Amino acid sequence: MTTTTNLIPANRATHLGFSDIVKIRNRVIGMLERGQRVLRLEGGEPFMPTPPFIKDAMKEALDADQTRYAPSSGIPQLIDAIQLKLAEHNALRVDPRSIIVTSGGAHGLFCAFQTVVDPGDEVMLFSPYWTPIRDHITFAGGVPVRVPWEEVHGVDDLREILQQRLTARTKLLYVNSPANPTGDVLSRRQLESVAAFAVENNLTVISDEAYEDLVWDGEHASLASFPDMFKRTISIYTLSKSFAMTGWRVGYVVADETWMEVIRKLVLNSINGVSTPSQFAAAAAVTHGKAFIASVRDDYRQRRDLMVRALNEAGLRCESPRGAFYLFPDVRERLGNDSWKAMEAVLERTSIASVPGVVFGAEGEGHLRMSFSTSMETIEEAAEALHKL
Ligand SMILES: Cc1ncc(COP(=O)(O)O)c(C=O)c1O
Repeated sequence: MTTTTNLIPANRATHLGFSDIVKIRNRVIGMLERGQRVLRLEGGEPFMPTPPFIKDAMKEALDADQTRYAPSSGIPQLIDAIQLKLAEHNALRVDPRSIIVTSGGAHGLFCAFQTVVDPGDEVMLFSPYWTPIRDHITFAGGVPVRVPWEEVHGVDDLREILQQRLTARTKLLYVNSPANPTGDVLSRRQLESVAAFAVENNLTVISDEAYEDLVWDGEHASLASFPDMFKRTISIYTLSKSFAMTGWRVGYVVADETWMEVIRKLVLNSINGVSTPSQFAAAAAVTHGKAFIASVRDDYRQRRDLMVRALNEAGLRCESPRGAFYLFPDVRERLGNDSWKAMEAVLERTSIASVPGVVFGAEGEGHLRMSFSTSMETIEEAAEALHKL
């Protein structure tokens, strides 16, 4: 006989977090419904629509009846395009079998953490970090070990900083450069030292390169391309941010066969492949998208510079982010340490919606995350509104 106690979700699933950002989004939607003006800087999407050539590629795929199951690892046209892009852009010469198409970077990350982490394994990550990463680690039974971004600033060789957190249980390093939410970009020398540390201590690395095309100062380099790193690095990519394709849900994972054998099974058993027409659109984006990326660079820079100036003038200390499209001002002097209260104060006084920094880990407390990826009109209005703070 079954009892009602059986009618409960599995323990590991109930402990998963649910994005605080969604709570803020709901609050903003409520304000909009009441007719209030909100300057929405709380999101994380490119400001422009998906370019027409990508949409056309999907239309052509539909007209050609490309609507059936595709190989669960990805259509050959997309895999070939990615292989070429990796060689040209990431200094990674890989076999097509080392590439798998996923439902966005989020799904790639889920598969990667499930592949590597066993219960009790410790995972180092720079903090503040993108919120879901903590859930990915704990859902696999792992233990997050935070390394403050603040300690990293201005240090070329990160080995000592990482060494301080190394234990016999450390299995994995999660590296996200350019970083959400801080906009930090690790320099080549810093990445070299992270790679050396991983090799010296026989660690695996998940390299989340979601913002690889959004670097404003410095350069992007892929950890897997450093000596001895390919076999120990699972690289995560997405088309979401590079090509304004957040809703298309296309990303890809690049890894050695040791990992790929498992990742292939996870992809098969979770989604059995990404939507076929989306993959045709993605192939066009990866093959012909360079010009688009170059064309929006100045628009992003202009928005970033305007907002950085306005924030600092309003007493919210903000360094110019070197990558991604987030500002992460330190609001402690002006608004106190509690970032939830600071978010409320900014929303009330300026109508700017932002995300409390503490949502991204304890090291984010006293900060707010604001996106500068929005229309120029909104940016100009937000810059003006900051005078009211
Ligand atoms: C650091 C980071 N990694 C990965 C992703 C995943 O994006 P998507 O699932 O849209 O590819 C995001 C999205 O915000 C992100 O900020």
